Amino acid sequence: MSTLKAVRGTRDLLPPETALWNRIEATARAVFARYNFGEIRTPIFEDTGLFARGVGEETDIVSKEMYTWEDKARAQSEKSQTLTLRPENTAGVVRAYIEHKLGETGQLQKLYYIGPQFRRERPQKGRYRQFSQIGAEVIGPPSAGSESPVRDAEVLEMLATLLNELGITGWTLNINSVGSAADRAKYNETLRAALVPVVGLMCQDCQRRAVTNPLRVLDCKVPEDQPIIETLPVIADSLDEDSKKHFAAVTAALDAAAVPYTRNHRLVRGLDYYTRTTFEFTHGGLGAQNALLGGGRYDGLSELIGGPKAPGIGFAIGEDRLVLTLLAQESAAPQVLADAFIAPLGESLNPAALALAQQLRHAGLRIELGEGSFRLKKSFEAADKTARKIVILGEDELQSGILTVKDFATGNQTKVPRAELAAFLAKSDIV
Ligand code: HAM
Repeated sequence: MSTLKAVRGTRDLLPPETALWNRIEATARAVFARYNFGEIRTPIFEDTGLFARGVGEETDIVSKEMYTWEDKARAQSEKSQTLTLRPENTAGVVRAYIEHKLGETGQLQKLYYIGPQFRRERPQKGRYRQFSQIGAEVIGPPSAGSESPVRDAEVLEMLATLLNELGITGWTLNINSVGSAADRAKYNETLRAALVPVVGLMCQDCQRRAVTNPLRVLDCKVPEDQPIIETLPVIADSLDEDSKKHFAAVTAALDAAAVPYTRNHRLVRGLDYYTRTTFEFTHGGLGAQNALLGGGRYDGLSELIGGPKAPGIGFAIGEDRLVLTLLAQESAAPQVLADAFIAPLGESLNPAALALAQQLRHAGLRIELGEGSFRLKKSFEAADKTARKIVILGEDELQSGILTVKDFATGNQTKVPRAELAAFLAKSDIV
C-alpha cells in the first residue's frame, strides 16, 4: 500500500519551528493591542460570490487559484451553494462588517486576524497552497475618519514597528498610489496605447496581458522585458488631484514618523479592490517570492459587495515568509529546553515522580518526566537533550525530601530540599 503524504503545497509544522510561529503571533498580538486593534475570526470558507465580486473575476486568484466546490443541499429547507476556501481574508472581514452592521456604531473598526488561506498556485519556496496570513483592516464610515491618509501612515508605521520588534532586518517598504477606479481605467487605456508599438518585442505573457489586463504587464519579471517596461507611462501621471493630495499626505506622515519607503511606480497589486495607497514590504533574503506582506486601501469594496460606504485600509503578512526570513537570519529555530528532567530511579518511583512533576509544573516550570525503567545513564542522556537540569528521585531522596539536581551547563551537582526545589530551578537560569 502506498503511504499517504501531506497534499502538495501543504506542510506540517513541527517543533521547534512551531515555537517561532508562536513567538511571531504573540508579538503581532501585542503590537496590534498597542494600536488598539481587536481580533476577528471569520469562517475559513465563504460563498464563492464574495470573492468573485470582492477580489475580482479577472484576477489570477479568482480565475485560477481558488478551491471551490458545489455544496449540495442536505435538506429541503437548504439550497445548494458554491463555496470556496478563502484565498484571502479582506473580503470576509468586510462581509462580516456589513453583516453585523458595524458601520452603525459610527466608530472606526480596527480588526486583526491570524489564520490559514488557500490558493492553488505552483508551490515553490515561500509559496504554498495552504499558507498563513497575519492581517489587519481599518474600516468605517467616512464620518469616523476612515478615508484619512493618516490611517494609511499609521498602518504602515505599525508594520515597520512589528517587523523591527520581530528582529527582521533589511526590509524595504514599496509604496504607490493606484488612484480612484476612474484613474485606474484611464491609466489602463494609456498603457494599452503605449504598449501597441513595443509589445511585439516582449514575452508571450506580456503580449496576452497587453490585451486582457495591461496593468499586469508591470508585474513581468522577464529580464529582457525590463528596459521596455521602464519606458512605459507611470500611473502617477493618471491620478486626479484628490488622489495626488492623499498620497502626498501619506508620505508626509511617514516622513514625520521616520518610516523609510521607496515609491515604486510598478506596484499595482493583483487584487481588484485597491484604490489609492498600495504597498508591499519586501525582503531580499526571500528569493523570487520576495513580498513579506502586501496591502492597501479599498474605499469601494464594501459597496461592491452590497454594503454601505465604508472606506478602509489593511494588509496581510505572509507568516510562512516571516518564518523563512527569521530562520535565515537566525540560522535555526532555537531548541526550547525544559527547566528540568525528573529521573525516577525505578518503576516504583513513577507515581512520586509524577507528583513531583505536577508540583513543579504548577509552579510554572517546564518539566520533562522520565520513566523508572530507564537506567540512570539513559536518563542522563535523555535529559541532556531536552532539559537544562536533571532531578534525581530515588528511594533515599523520597525519604529524606532532599533531591539531587545536576546542571548540564555548569556540571554542578546540588542537594536541594523539596520545598525549595521550584525556586531553585526557576532562578538557576543565571549561570
Ligand atoms: P496578497 O498580496 O495577495 O494580499 O497577500 C499578502 C501576503 O500573503 C503576500 O505578500 C505573501 O507574503 C503572502 N502570500 C500570498 N500568497 C501566498 C502563498 N501562496 N504562499 C505563501 N504566502 C503567500 C492579500 O491577501 C490582501 N488580502 C491583503 C490586504 C489586506 N489588503 C488589504 N487588506
